[in-house]
Amino acid sequence: MPKRLYIETVGCQMNVLDSEMVVASLRKHGYELTNDPKLADTLLFNTCSVREHAEDKTYSALGHLKKLKTKNPEKVIGVMGCMAQKDQKLVFERAPYVDLVVGPGQLQQIPELVERIEAGAKHQMAVGLGRRDGSVDEIKRSHETFDPLRDPSMRPTPFQAYLRIQIGCDKFCTYCIVPSTRGPEQGRPPQQIYDEARLLADQGCKEITLLGQTVNSYKYVDGGTTTRLADLLYQLQEIDGIERLKFVTNYPKDMTYELLQAVRDLPKVSPYLHVPLQSGSDVVLQRMKRGYTVQDYRDMMQRIRETVPGYAVSSDFIVGFCGETEKDFEQTVELVKECRFKNSFIFKYSERPGTKGAELMKDDIPTEVKQRRNNDLLAIQTAISEEDNQEFIGRTVKVLIEGPSKRAVRQGTQDEPTLQLIGRTHCDRIVVFEGNQRQIGQTLPITVYDATAFTLFGNIVTQEIRPQPYTLQIV
Ligand code: 5AD
Ligand code: SF4
Repeated sequence: MPKRLYIETVGCQMNVLDSEMVVASLRKHGYELTNDPKLADTLLFNTCSVREHAEDKTYSALGHLKKLKTKNPEKVIGVMGCMAQKDQKLVFERAPYVDLVVGPGQLQQIPELVERIEAGAKHQMAVGLGRRDGSVDEIKRSHETFDPLRDPSMRPTPFQAYLRIQIGCDKFCTYCIVPSTRGPEQGRPPQQIYDEARLLADQGCKEITLLGQTVNSYKYVDGGTTTRLADLLYQLQEIDGIERLKFVTNYPKDMTYELLQAVRDLPKVSPYLHVPLQSGSDVVLQRMKRGYTVQDYRDMMQRIRETVPGYAVSSDFIVGFCGETEKDFEQTVELVKECRFKNSFIFKYSERPGTKGAELMKDDIPTEVKQRRNNDLLAIQTAISEEDNQEFIGRTVKVLIEGPSKRAVRQGTQDEPTLQLIGRTHCDRIVVFEGNQRQIGQTLPITVYDATAFTLFGNIVTQEIRPQPYTLQIV
């Protein structure tokens, strides 16, 4: 009988991709997936450490498993991902019934570690070296990228896939835990990336999103040749079957003119750029050690405007970072109004032990103030998104159709032939419309008749099927 795997994933796209890989590797070891923890032989939690809240939720979910494990000691419970790397043995201390702790750079070891636990071993742990615990090479080797197998059935839609081009991060923003959980920045070899993209295209994938913590800093040096993100895009553009290429997340300073030219010149590359600004105040940016000024970001926006027609830029912000004054916050508001982002992800600062921010600065902004700033900034961004989306009313956009909308899924109508569908434009705007099952996975023109801040509503343009011209038969 096949063994059953239950897996819960929180956090960023990297984690989603890591889970896809782990599931694929466990399938090779005879596992199938289940949605029910009670039926599972192995339960895995892929975790996030970016904010404290995410960790609290994971520990609380683990807390609920105590009874299950006491009743069924043969079940294997594992914690993988960033919180596993950050907390290491602390996970066993806080949740002693967890069997397995595996960092994001050791995921390839999971099948073997699970087998060891099944054979009676206790508390197994595989984590990467800390950023000060060895030579650069040793540290790099201890954080490995894990991209061996692709499994279309694990993806939200078989037409879309993430493809990792880089792991780790060397930017060390003072608030961020990622450089220590995911290790040093390392670009994957271009040939591996190309081969994986080919494989995805062969599996029917139409849209690939390239992933990296600072994806536009991608660099791979082989002898005398240096490959950058723009070079990769030119290579991937050539793959038949791939219709769209995206890349996230970008670092403002590395948004070069060469890269923007590639975005402009390559029809498959989405003109959608996610480039987190984090704050509109130079003082705060400096304290965050982001490595750019507000003026640098403005210059980058200007470059984008001048170079990429139909561009859409989105951003991330942290409100209530150490020492953020009302004036600093107002500057952020001003910049959001000036840049008119497609959308922004807004977060309240969460102090992370192990970062320079936690070591050197005081988390001195009261929770209520963080919350108010969060609400205010979100309201301003939402108004901008709504205004900009309304510009689309009456226009026809090309939409890659992803599948049933949330409403169709909720109503249980997702199996009916006609249903509400959801897809995205080339510039990453969500479009909802009535359609047909068979259209899922196609790219079709849709005319927009209404818009909110988050969604465009449209109708599929009916394509005229011309009758065959009448030809006179001469006998
Ligand atoms: N507190 C709040 N938000 C954070 N982010 C990263 N670290 C923290 C933190 N300590 C946000 C940043 C980043 C996004 C992925 O998460 O905005 O761009
Ligand atoms: Fe974290 Fe900064 Fe690296 Fe992004 S660039 S992962 S925010 S350290």
